Amino acid sequence: MKKIYGVMGDPIAHSMSPDIHNDAFEKENIEAVYHHFHVTKEGLNDAVKGMKALGIEGFNITIPHKESIIPFLDEVDELALAIGAVNTVVNKNGRFIGYNTDGKGFFKSLCDEISGDMKAKKTLVIGAGGAARAIYFTLVKEGVKQVDIANRTKERAAELVSDCPYDKISKALSIIEAEQSLSQYDLIIQTTSSGMSPEYDHSPLNVDRLKTGAIVSDIIYNPLQTKLLREASEKGAKTQNGLGMFINQGALAFEIWTGIMPDTARMTDIVLNKLG
Ligand code: ATR
Repeated sequence: MKKIYGVMGDPIAHSMSPDIHNDAFEKENIEAVYHHFHVTKEGLNDAVKGMKALGIEGFNITIPHKESIIPFLDEVDELALAIGAVNTVVNKNGRFIGYNTDGKGFFKSLCDEISGDMKAKKTLVIGAGGAARAIYFTLVKEGVKQVDIANRTKERAAELVSDCPYDKISKALSIIEAEQSLSQYDLIIQTTSSGMSPEYDHSPLNVDRLKTGAIVSDIIYNPLQTKLLREASEKGAKTQNGLGMFINQGALAFEIWTGIMPDTARMTDIVLNKLG
């Protein structure tokens, strides 16, 4: 009998997770199928109970349920609890255990795609939302020495810094302050939704003072080249889009479920084909 996995969210129809996971199950000869489940905020508790009653082996959680699912789980891993969001659940003997692979997926894609010691890089994260939280907490837990946060609303950056249990040396900055001190940073990570839609070609950061040889990473992958990445690239920066983060958060979820690290190059081809 095929094992069942899936992803819950609202909206969910656009999700590319079924494409990458179903292909990986087939490639690894695992008798399993991965569905997308449209679950509303009101339906979340019932959906989790239903998943358990049906013996679903594991699932991903996306917008808007990453935070609100936590009370419905039996156990949550330490990093996911600190972040306050879960994107992966595994069924271990009838108990649902939550993890967050977003930050780890980001860090893995950074280390895989860019050469050099990422832990030694002086890092600036742009944004203070859920994605920034997962990435920032993971980077400092992984041992990246200095990670500062800049946000349009500086108070939210300060809140993020004071919430982080792994680090006490980060600074919170406004965007203008970050732009003025940009030449200090070796690695810049853009986590806001600004620049997401091709019609709204906006960059949240002026890169005039970018350090020579800096790395600029944008977690957006649709479009593959945001305005920020184009401008950074023109200044000679090494750039990275968010495709690797998406692939690796999925690959790490697959590994939690099956113990197997799937072929990420194959997953990347599937998403690139779909993006056209
Ligand atoms: P997510 O969970 O996707 O990270 P979020 O919690 O809504 O989303 O946070 C969105 C982030 O994008 C915030 O850092 C937000 O800045 P504010 O805290 O000032 O709102 C940032 N953001 C969204 N649109 C932006 C824009 N046009 N320019 C700059 N920052 C923007």
